[in-house]
Amino acid sequence: MKIIAPSILSADGGRLSEEIATVEKAGADWIHIDVMDGHFVPNITIGPAIISTLRKTTKLPFDVHLMIENPERYIESFAQAGADIITVHVEATNHLHRTIDMIKKLGREAGVSLNPATPLTQIEEIIPYIDLLLIMTVNPGFGGQQFIKTSLSKIAKANKMLTGLSRKPLLEVDGGVNLKNIGDIAKAGADVIVAGAAIFGSDDYQKTIATMKLAANNN
Ligand code: DX5
Ligand code: ZN
Repeated sequence: MKIIAPSILSADGGRLSEEIATVEKAGADWIHIDVMDGHFVPNITIGPAIISTLRKTTKLPFDVHLMIENPERYIESFAQAGADIITVHVEATNHLHRTIDMIKKLGREAGVSLNPATPLTQIEEIIPYIDLLLIMTVNPGFGGQQFIKTSLSKIAKANKMLTGLSRKPLLEVDGGVNLKNIGDIAKAGADVIVAGAAIFGSDDYQKTIATMKLAANNN
């Protein structure tokens, strides 16, 4: 079964706990939380304080996507705030192995993410140490952008790289996912599929998540 992770970036920021409760009831598997610093990406979102408040409202795993420069400075705060999976960008840290090691030592799952223009060769050496590989299919910073079409072959290539490993990291896809392309994304090998605008911009979260699950698992 594919994992569906609604991104609360597109949820109603004044009612985050209610929005999370609604997608939880609708069958969401994880909650994807986008953390932006205004440096690595041109937008600023939430930090550990809000995450620890939200932590008390749901049992769903928190999939924390750090779009911040030098994430190693904040790993401990996010772990304490209740992040279950902490993903850092390969482009944002000088010592990726050390950063991943920090996440693992704090008992959290460690993810690495690649921007659309970053080749898969960048993560060859870190693959044995990670639990999740996140392929960005839009340039990070905003919800509601268009899926970059060439990403489908990148997802398939990543899947090929990971398949056959004794400990296969989960392959996650984030950006521009909708009801039309989710089937192809799943078929290309994504295990975890993030969706923001497609879920929180819809009239009926329950129906949207159910339709997404059907399309993603119908391969
Ligand atoms: C983009 C974020 C995504 C974003 C996805 O920088 O990392 O998680 O919320 O939103 P949609 O699904 O609307 O493209
Ligand atoms: Zn994200």
